[in-house]
Amino acid sequence: MAAAEGQWVLMATGRSPTNIAVIKYWGKRDEALILPVNDSISVTLDPDHLSATTTVAVSPSFPSDRMWLNGKEISLSGGRFQSCLREIRKRARDFEDEKKGINIKREDWEKLHVHIASYNNFPTAAGLASSAAGLACFVFTLGKIMNVKEDYGELSSIARQGSGSACRSIYGGFVKWCMGKKDDGSDSIAVQLADETHWNDLVIIIAVVSSKQKETSSTSGMRDSVETSPLLQYRAQTVVPSRVLKMEEAIKNHDFESFAKLTCADSNQFHAVCLDTSPPIFYMNDTSHRYVLAVHWLGILIISLVEKWNHSEGTPQVAYTFDAGPNAVLIAQNRKTAALLLRKLLYYFPPEDKDLSSYLVGDKSILGDAGLHSIKDVEALPAPPEMKIPDQKFMGDVSYFICIRLGAGPKVVADESQALIDAVTGLPKGL
Ligand code: ADE
Repeated sequence: MAAAEGQWVLMATGRSPTNIAVIKYWGKRDEALILPVNDSISVTLDPDHLSATTTVAVSPSFPSDRMWLNGKEISLSGGRFQSCLREIRKRARDFEDEKKGINIKREDWEKLHVHIASYNNFPTAAGLASSAAGLACFVFTLGKIMNVKEDYGELSSIARQGSGSACRSIYGGFVKWCMGKKDDGSDSIAVQLADETHWNDLVIIIAVVSSKQKETSSTSGMRDSVETSPLLQYRAQTVVPSRVLKMEEAIKNHDFESFAKLTCADSNQFHAVCLDTSPPIFYMNDTSHRYVLAVHWLGILIISLVEKWNHSEGTPQVAYTFDAGPNAVLIAQNRKTAALLLRKLLYYFPPEDKDLSSYLVGDKSILGDAGLHSIKDVEALPAPPEMKIPDQKFMGDVSYFICIRLGAGPKVVADESQALIDAVTGLPKGL
């Protein structure tokens, strides 16, 4: 295997983005292979602000596969991690690093164990598709270290087996997950519709409702919807196929009006499917009723604000979309509209403390564009006129806002000092 057998540690580090679906994935036709009942389309978010970074280390001295997430050891024995590991190991190739005297033959990879350390640059429990970024990064980085040469379509199909929406995080920009028709899932892959530079006017503002709640599993909710919701069948067979075609056209032509209408309609239909499920799915149903009511109320307020604003302008300014959690994702046509949107949002959801700059993370320069330099500017904000009746304010209901652009797909982190594993001990740094 190598001259100094057992002495070396080989490492690779990758970074992968999260994504947010504008045509939603909800419902599997095959639970084990994670095959969806409809196509979905997403936008990839800038990895500088929302991403997973993963280091994979390999050494003949490792007695078993191990993984650490955000510094804590987690089990790799789950079927999803195991499927990805198995599929990447199957495709591993010969690897040679003459300088380090490392020579690994294709068949050696089956015997070599991995240590994997991953870190999310945002709260893992915030409901911001951390598993999409995490599993895409897991597959991408394992593929790099094991010298896998398969194309990105194939990698996306492996990532899909880790977490469905992870397949879309294999690319930047606008991405379509094609549901596929085959029973073995080989044609259920993601493709890039356009890269992140194609429509770079778009600005995304996310209201993070709470970073304290644990992520509710979508798996059981989806299963219940597939088994009981007649609306899900209609949506998958009749609505989504034509909506996907329209969305592809809207993206191709930078047609914000169509993009926004389709995005909002699809988010609303996804939540209608949740209500059409028996028993109905109300998100965050493992937490207190007070909390469930609060987040639904907040969602309703944001939807109503955007709908009324869009209506009063005569053409959509902003699109909203909500995943299976309470965070609101708002996509503005350009920076100017994003700044106006921020003023409306901060009127209703002012920060609890005086520090404005920690209340908005990501591209903070939007605060200046919105004329919000201090908390005094926030306190002086006028009520959004389109809401007609001045409403109460909801201080403390939003943990923080993120202002973010579309971003690129997974990348290798070449700077070895950024590796999360110590090259000598083979264990996570700082452990
Ligand atoms: N689930 C959530 N975040 C993850 C990560 N970074 N890697 C693997 N699984 C995850």
